[in-house]
Amino acid sequence: MDSHHLVVLVMATIFMIPTTFAQLTPDYYDKVCPQALPIIKSIVNQAILRETRIGASLLRLHFHDCFVNGCDGSVLLDDTPFFLGEKTALPNINSIRGFEVVDEIKAAVDKACKGAVVSCADILAIAARDSVAILGGPEYWYRVLLGRRDARYASRDAANVNLPPPFFNLPQLLASFQSHGLDLKDLVVLSGGHTIGQSKCSSFRDRIFNDTNINPNFAATLRESCPRIGGDSSLAPIDATPSRFDTTYYKALLYKKGLFHSDQELFKGDGSESDRLVELYSKDPYAFARDFGVSMIKMGNIKPLTGYIGEIRCNCRKVNY
Ligand code: HEM
Repeated sequence: MDSHHLVVLVMATIFMIPTTFAQLTPDYYDKVCPQALPIIKSIVNQAILRETRIGASLLRLHFHDCFVNGCDGSVLLDDTPFFLGEKTALPNINSIRGFEVVDEIKAAVDKACKGAVVSCADILAIAARDSVAILGGPEYWYRVLLGRRDARYASRDAANVNLPPPFFNLPQLLASFQSHGLDLKDLVVLSGGHTIGQSKCSSFRDRIFNDTNINPNFAATLRESCPRIGGDSSLAPIDATPSRFDTTYYKALLYKKGLFHSDQELFKGDGSESDRLVELYSKDPYAFARDFGVSMIKMGNIKPLTGYIGEIRCNCRKVNY
């Protein structure tokens, strides 16, 4: 190799490192802004004290961010003249929430870090982890990986295509998760996110009127506040303990008391691999806690922007200029 080629090769290698090989790390902000993580935890804590449900809403925001073009903070962007954002996509409209808490966190970390250091995408990952650990207890804590950057673009169409709806069956749910590099175990364990939070009647109406794989008393009770016509946005808890991150969700599936059709698809009592996982998590909170953290890290690794790609937004709702 002559010297000219050597120079080209070295330059190419140097320029490739930040983009191709950059990886998320747990200590990303330790040197540049050590206050960031404690500040986020304290704001999430206060927000949950004001309204417990917000922890569930923050967890869901991270999921909806990651499944649409990767964990890049795109879910937080408002519509612009150049693109329609994800907030008005069908699975999100009048449903995803928590944007004010994200704004509050962003303002506080930017002040403490003296500038835009922490990305909006990382704020979502940290707030999701903190919510889980606050509502579930210390065994649900996991080391979140960091160093994501923020997208300069969002797509309503991509959100409509990539977020699984509650009427999906098991093969459809699995195909959706596999399209993001996740497997059956990730599907079953991450669906455990439904151990917290609330749902609108319109998301489970079809199940309580038409499904057969449902406990009849459970369906009848839900029909009282979620009639065939009207009451679209009346809320029901997704499991019996919607403010506790625990294994109640899996126990409910064993009794055909999953709120969404997609939840009950994970347990049909036919001895499948999926059934086996639901049974395991219903009995073993430690297995659930451990596997939930592992799968959240896997989900958090979906196509992050790193190196020189993307930006660190100053306002999570808008691209920088
Ligand atoms: C497996 C496919 C999934 C489907 C079909 C699904 C569907 C839904 C639906 C329809 C709602 C209620 C929305 C509404 O009525 O406003 C909901 C709520 C929720 N989902 Fe999922 N979800 C899935 C996976 C996940 C995952 C992977 C997580 C997190 C790890 C998650 C966390 C949540 C939380 C916490 C809520 C409650 C939010 C709140 O109270 O604000 N979901 N989901």
